[in-house]
Amino acid sequence: MSRPARQLKLGAVTMGAGGPGQHYLWLDPELPADASVNVNWYIELARQAEEARFDLIFIVDSQFITADSPPHYLNRLEPITLLSALAVSTEHLGLVATMTTSYNDPFNLARRLASLDLISGGRSGWNVVTSGDAGAAANFSRDEHFDYDTRYARGLEFVQVAQGLWDSYEADAFPRDRATRTFLDPSRQHQLNHKGEHFQVAGPLNVSRSPQGQPVIFQAGDSEQGRDLGAQIGEGIFTHAASLEQGQAFYADIKSRAAARGRDPDHLVVMPGMRVYIGDTDAEAREIERDLQLAAQDFDQALAELGRPFAWHDFRQYDLDAPFPQQALAHAERGFRTNAEKIAALARDRDLTLRQTVEALSSPRPTPFAGAPATVADQITAWFDGRALDGLNYHIATPAQWRRFREEVVPILAERGVVRREYDSATLRGNLGLPVPENRHTAARREASLQKI
Ligand SMILES: Cc1cc2nc3c(=O)[nH]c(=O)nc-3n(C[C@H](O)[C@H](O)[C@H](O)COP(=O)(O)O)c2cc1C
Repeated sequence: MSRPARQLKLGAVTMGAGGPGQHYLWLDPELPADASVNVNWYIELARQAEEARFDLIFIVDSQFITADSPPHYLNRLEPITLLSALAVSTEHLGLVATMTTSYNDPFNLARRLASLDLISGGRSGWNVVTSGDAGAAANFSRDEHFDYDTRYARGLEFVQVAQGLWDSYEADAFPRDRATRTFLDPSRQHQLNHKGEHFQVAGPLNVSRSPQGQPVIFQAGDSEQGRDLGAQIGEGIFTHAASLEQGQAFYADIKSRAAARGRDPDHLVVMPGMRVYIGDTDAEAREIERDLQLAAQDFDQALAELGRPFAWHDFRQYDLDAPFPQQALAHAERGFRTNAEKIAALARDRDLTLRQTVEALSSPRPTPFAGAPATVADQITAWFDGRALDGLNYHIATPAQWRRFREEVVPILAERGVVRREYDSATLRGNLGLPVPENRHTAARREASLQKI
């Protein structure tokens, strides 16, 4: 049988009333001002994504805010609770929740995701993050956030424990046979008895397997440690890319790290998050892009938000016209270090003051995907064919642009066979072309019986 052609995967990322750099999105009269906590708005959005045959909706999250946080962060729904509502309002859409390994326990998290997987008939996914918002520590009984090595070591062990718990029951564990009064076959229930550096978990988990076996593991983190974690456990990778070349370099790097671990690189789907701007003509699209970026500008907000990658270090204490304070980098070990390093390098290489750094980061600049619908379809196809991505996590911003993407760009991609017209499967795994992981205990028994032959 010939292999089906590789097809582009589509994810929808939403920041409701406005995420970082979108403090004024909520002024858009088409968007409910309470979008981030309005379940009916999310349901409508999920149905629209499903009509356009998107593979998944992606819910980002964090656990720390200040008064300077963007509108969506100030007041938003908890991902699993939200996705449970979307699970019963949709049929095919994958439901991916961002949940941190730094401020959760594997048993609770594995249970919630497995429950969502059953409720949705095999459509749940987990975006594994280690948290870059250092302040979250104070909400979870800790004096300070974990350093990078601890964060990522804990993250790896956390995922492995969750996957172990998801194998607690084999597929045939519940005969539920009234005639013999047999509800459970105890030989198909397994304890984990994990004793590791960060967690001790006996198991078994009290939720059975779903049609996709286990929730799909996504991972987001760009440092060396982040990439290694993604290459080891990620089935989907959430990232960002500023140019085709950068996208290609990341893609090649993460796939080769996975191959070096003996994994099939096709079993890891790279999906950068992207903003897209569509106009009637290419020139009009660039105008729309510029207008939307200008409308988002606010120097004071940008100065406050600059602190986020540096563990919310307060840059307002410095002279705006003095050189960028490189010493702030010391705080990034407990923040978003990769991002902080990029900002500090930019300021150093261009000899920028603090004011110029803020301006450089927030000034309008052309993005890779902007143009008339056919141009945008060409740009996306070039990235896909050029192996800079396997899928696109489309950042939903204004309702008008979201509509144009679904109604004008996706049909061109479908016409060209770049995206499919119908869902391949009822599960997220099936639609992403990922294999169902075999239960380890079933596999062990199969191995043992083969050896006896
Ligand atoms: C594209 C992308 C998306 C991310 N989304 C989230 C998120 O929603 N919530 C969160 O707490 N951390 C998120 N992270 C943060 C990572 O889990 C990690 O803590 C942070 O990026 C710092 O690690 P790094 O230097 O390895 O990137 C994201 C990272 C990337 C690269």
